[in-house]
Amino acid sequence: MKKVLLTGANGLLGQKLVYALKKRPDIDLLATAIGDNRLVDDMGYNYQSMDIADNKSTKETIELFSPDVIVNCAAMTNVDACELNKVKCWEINVNGVDNLTKAAENIGAHFIHLSTDFVFDGKNGPYSESDSTNPLHYYAESKLASEKIVQKNCSKWSIARTIIIYGITDNMSRSNLVLWAKGEIERGNKINVVNDQFRSPTLAEDLADGCIAIMDKKAYGLYHLSGPKTYSIIEMVNLVADYYDLDRSLINPVSSASLNQPAKRPLKTGFDISKARNDLDYDPVDFLTGIKIMDRQLKQQHEY
Ligand SMILES: NC(=O)c1ccc[n+]([C@@H]2O[C@H](COP(=O)([O-])OP(=O)(O)OC[C@H]3O[C@@H](n4cnc5c(N)ncnc54)[C@H](OP(=O)(O)O)[C@@H]3O)[C@@H](O)[C@H]2O)c1
Repeated sequence: MKKVLLTGANGLLGQKLVYALKKRPDIDLLATAIGDNRLVDDMGYNYQSMDIADNKSTKETIELFSPDVIVNCAAMTNVDACELNKVKCWEINVNGVDNLTKAAENIGAHFIHLSTDFVFDGKNGPYSESDSTNPLHYYAESKLASEKIVQKNCSKWSIARTIIIYGITDNMSRSNLVLWAKGEIERGNKINVVNDQFRSPTLAEDLADGCIAIMDKKAYGLYHLSGPKTYSIIEMVNLVADYYDLDRSLINPVSSASLNQPAKRPLKTGFDISKARNDLDYDPVDFLTGIKIMDRQLKQQHEY
């Protein structure tokens, strides 16, 4: 039996990992996040609240469970909130990872960490794993610092960088670009959407599969795990509107500069995912297929 400790289990990626891992008879799963368990199905795994910024309880929990693998999906992920609350951002995204990785190394666990395309400055996307980083905002700085800590503290480490995760969470506890655009346009609201930022959107289930492949294959090192294709954000929103037959005239194209967001976003990221395709058999769906998968799940949730 392989013991896996998951952090951030209430989040968008975390929930998909819980549902994928709890099905596996060879895995003993301890799911954790800072709050109470928000997953509808609490069978087939154990759940415990754990604040990764609290070194003492993190260390105790890890020593007691003694996992073979730790998958770290916990983070402060709201980019503008990180810019506005730098102390909290660093406590979770950097000090939290320091706590986790030291405890992981003490028990010889494989540490799998999640990071972001925002470690790049967006001048030369799409990016491969060997490209140079240059973070533009505080969240990105914190994630890059966390990557360095993982590499320094752990003998067995993997880092999976990803981009714009979309998918459905239990009770719709977490939104994302697809749900936001669909919801606003359905309500008849005009939305400002940037036309100068480019990303490769990633279906949460694909990312979970990629992380599990990293675990199963003991694939150490850095991996880029995103969707297969890069679009502008406005192209993505147009695709959502067209899929749901919504009024495109409510989508107002704007430049990034006009939004005046606290954190300055990189313009063109996107990933070259050939390393993950070769090493992990990673084979993510395109965005339109992903929207269809989400739509099916949405309808199932509404049937309950
Ligand atoms: N979402 C994206 O588009 C995106 C893009 C690139 C990279 N990433 C990276 O991918 C990973 C997963 O992202 P996500 O979108 O799935 O995250 P998410 O939905 O925002 O969930 C974050 C999780 O972290 C937990 N958490 C927050 N502070 C914590 C603390 N102090 N101690 C323990 N747990 C804490 C939250 O717990 P509660 O729910 O209980 O509060 C939540 O379960 C993150 O590392 C993120 O940086 C995400």
